[in-house]
Amino acid sequence: MKEIILTVFDKDFCATIPGHEEMRVEESGVYHTVLVDGEKAGVVGYLSGAVNKEVYFIQVAITPKFRGVGLAGISEDLLAEHYKLPVLVATIETANTSSVRAHLKSGFQELPADKLAYLREKGFLKVGQTRLVKRYNHEL
Ligand SMILES: CC(C)(COP(=O)(O)OP(=O)(O)OC[C@H]1O[C@@H](n2cnc3c(N)ncnc32)[C@H](O)[C@@H]1OP(=O)(O)O)[C@@H](O)C(=O)NCCC(=O)NCCS
Repeated sequence: MKEIILTVFDKDFCATIPGHEEMRVEESGVYHTVLVDGEKAGVVGYLSGAVNKEVYFIQVAITPKFRGVGLAGISEDLLAEHYKLPVLVATIETANTSSVRAHLKSGFQELPADKLAYLREKGFLKVGQTRLVKRYNHEL
């Protein structure tokens, strides 16, 4: 892979990516298409939290052709850098092992068990989901 950039979001392209149902695409979100050497390779975006607007929930889907080379993590880093997001939060179905692995490999950390239990108890996290977080220290 040479040039990886974020460009204007293409909703129709997003709908063609197998597994795109795993991500939430909502009017209030901010999304981009990921280009690898000019080719559409995935989509990445974020949704602000309903309770705390400064919690940014990451949404990502990569086309099968470009999976397995760390593109999800690279795309998320580009998004965080572009918008100077201090923290990204990923809510992932634990059965979605590709996504859990992708996020752990790119530096996300799963919340401690007591915090996960608290979120489940409060209804912020469903059974079968986990939550991971990555913090950024952007240069001004
Ligand atoms: C989850 C997803 C975004 C990961 O993107 P990615 O750029 O392929 O991530 P990575 O390259 O870091 O690979 C992560 C894991 O995917 C799996 N993987 C590797 N190659 C793969 C391939 N060709 N096809 C499917 N999964 C593959 C591996 O388990 C890999 O972990 P490993 O390298 O430790 O073995 C991508 O699989 C996807 O778009 N899935 C459908 C949408 C989705 O689930 N989005 C996340 C919502 S939370």
